[in-house]
Amino acid sequence: MLIIAHRGASGHKPENTIASFLRALELGAKMIEFDVHVCKSGEAIVIHDFTIDRTTNGKGFVSELSLEEIKSFDTDNGETVPTLYETLEAINGKSMVNIEIKGKKSYKEVAKAIKRQMESSVWEKEDFLVSSFNHEDLLKFHKLMPEIKTGVLFEHVPENFHEIADKLKAYSINANFEFLTNEIVDKIHNSGYKVFAYTVNEESDKSKMENMNVDGIFTNYP
Ligand code: G3P
Ligand code: MG
Repeated sequence: MLIIAHRGASGHKPENTIASFLRALELGAKMIEFDVHVCKSGEAIVIHDFTIDRTTNGKGFVSELSLEEIKSFDTDNGETVPTLYETLEAINGKSMVNIEIKGKKSYKEVAKAIKRQMESSVWEKEDFLVSSFNHEDLLKFHKLMPEIKTGVLFEHVPENFHEIADKLKAYSINANFEFLTNEIVDKIHNSGYKVFAYTVNEESDKSKMENMNVDGIFTNYP
């Protein structure tokens, strides 16, 4: 079962910081997940929420702040919110990455960033998995970069999950572990997709996922 560091090793270091990504690498995570929004000046940054309120000492919507403004605030460990470029440079092909498209317009910046990184010899196209709850934007991303694996995010996997997954020729269905059952996992596998479950932080839940034959788990404790 693939262990995916959720927002980096976010159980050990502040989520979505360079420290959390480097800690995940130290712990041997094979894949690191993080979330991407685009700020007002157009750069892709790595942050979970639509505002900077919870994870920095600043306030405001990411989409209404420039990169310079966002960089003037600190995360809990005294870093600044990393850009997507800084994040990929820090991870430097040492693990696979799951880039989650959160904010509007992020899909274009994610495609640009992947293209740019693939020019260097440390990254292979297989190192990237791009996912989103926003299936329309994920489809737009897929049209720009059909060679990159996609993961369709669901809270609760619906009966017709394969409609969007088929359109995307998706690699995985990424689902909230709390709603997964043996039956759903088997159905997803029979349709030809992997199952990655979020966010599994307890040993007992990890065992449950193993018993269901889930292919990977997102965890804050990789
Ligand atoms: O991609 C798995 C997980 O990160 C999805 O939920 O809210 O933590 O981004 P969230
Ligand atoms: Mg996420």
